[in-house]
Amino acid sequence: MRSVVVGFGGALPQKCIKNDELPESLNTSDEWISQRTGIKQRYVISEGESTSTLATEAAKDALRFARISPNDVDLIVVGTTTGDYTFPATACLVQKNLDITNGCPAFDVSAACSGFIYALDVADSFIRMGKAKQALVIGADSFSKILDWNDRSSCVLFGDGAGAVVLKAEENTDKGIQYCKIYADGSYSDFLTTTGGVATTQHAGVVTMRGREVFKFAVEKFCSSFQELLESNDLTIDDVDLIVPHQANVRILNKFVDVLKIDPKKIVVTIDAHSNTSAATIPLALNKIKDSIGTNKNVVLLSMGAGFTWGATLVRM
Ligand SMILES: CC(C)(COP(=O)(O)OP(=O)(O)OC[C@H]1O[C@@H](n2cnc3c(N)ncnc32)[C@H](O)[C@@H]1OP(=O)(O)O)[C@@H](O)C(=O)NCCC(=O)NCCS
Repeated sequence: MRSVVVGFGGALPQKCIKNDELPESLNTSDEWISQRTGIKQRYVISEGESTSTLATEAAKDALRFARISPNDVDLIVVGTTTGDYTFPATACLVQKNLDITNGCPAFDVSAACSGFIYALDVADSFIRMGKAKQALVIGADSFSKILDWNDRSSCVLFGDGAGAVVLKAEENTDKGIQYCKIYADGSYSDFLTTTGGVATTQHAGVVTMRGREVFKFAVEKFCSSFQELLESNDLTIDDVDLIVPHQANVRILNKFVDVLKIDPKKIVVTIDAHSNTSAATIPLALNKIKDSIGTNKNVVLLSMGAGFTWGATLVRM
């Protein structure tokens, strides 16, 4: 049994802030942000928008693409660390918003920027075990709400958004998820974290990170998890058609490409338009390229995020 990706969707907030529209008090510039990160703009939620509204729009989009009606979904997994509430899970709010009344399981997975790959691995496992047939997998975050808007070294990097895919159980196919491996190393938990949380400060806190160390770690883990994926599947770089990595900094992607001597044309880059939308970067990028992916293509998804967490997935489209 394989999980075949049959739907893609995405949603961004209405408000877009370009680099040169950031507050003057930040003492930053389009030049600094573009050169150091590749980011040109970010979307941020306003009144009436939230992680669950974005997740719902992305889910609707993916279901439309897949031509599946909401009540035929039998699993909802949302990768997020910025849910609307401490509980219920964002996945339950999506279920309510979509009027899904079939009682299917709906839960969130917390792995920061790796949330989507973690959610995908969980949903794929459900499908391969025969516990689900049509799963909605969403990556959604609203980091604008947990940023210190006075800290130029972190607040310029992130934005809000949601992306979704629909996985369908299919037998006797060479398409679908071929490999999914997720990892974590909690000894790095304080390298990228928030200044608070429910059981410590009763508030979510704001993002704080050791930027240079995070950068190095991301390059190292993109390289090692990609190489492990190739070896485990008996593939070479030439067998991979597209790589959709987590979008944290274009220089991280350039370094990854340099170290492994990958053709840069194989790397999907959306950071200029979306910034780092945490768990949403990969499904948003997939949604952006959905019409040009083609069939029988080997697509690799790579993630890294707080925890540290990271992961690599091989999907045959
Ligand atoms: C954050 C990051 C862009 C910083 O780039 P860097 O080249 O390491 O820059 P540094 O932190 O060394 O800062 C260099 C200078 O730029 C300044 N600076 C930082 N942010 C700035 C900004 N937005 N605008 C202008 N100047 C800025 C610093 O104050 C520092 O000034 P100084 O030399 O006078 O002290 C980079 O480390 C990075 O992308 N790390 C990974 C972060 C990430 O992806 N996190 C999420 C992972 S999921």
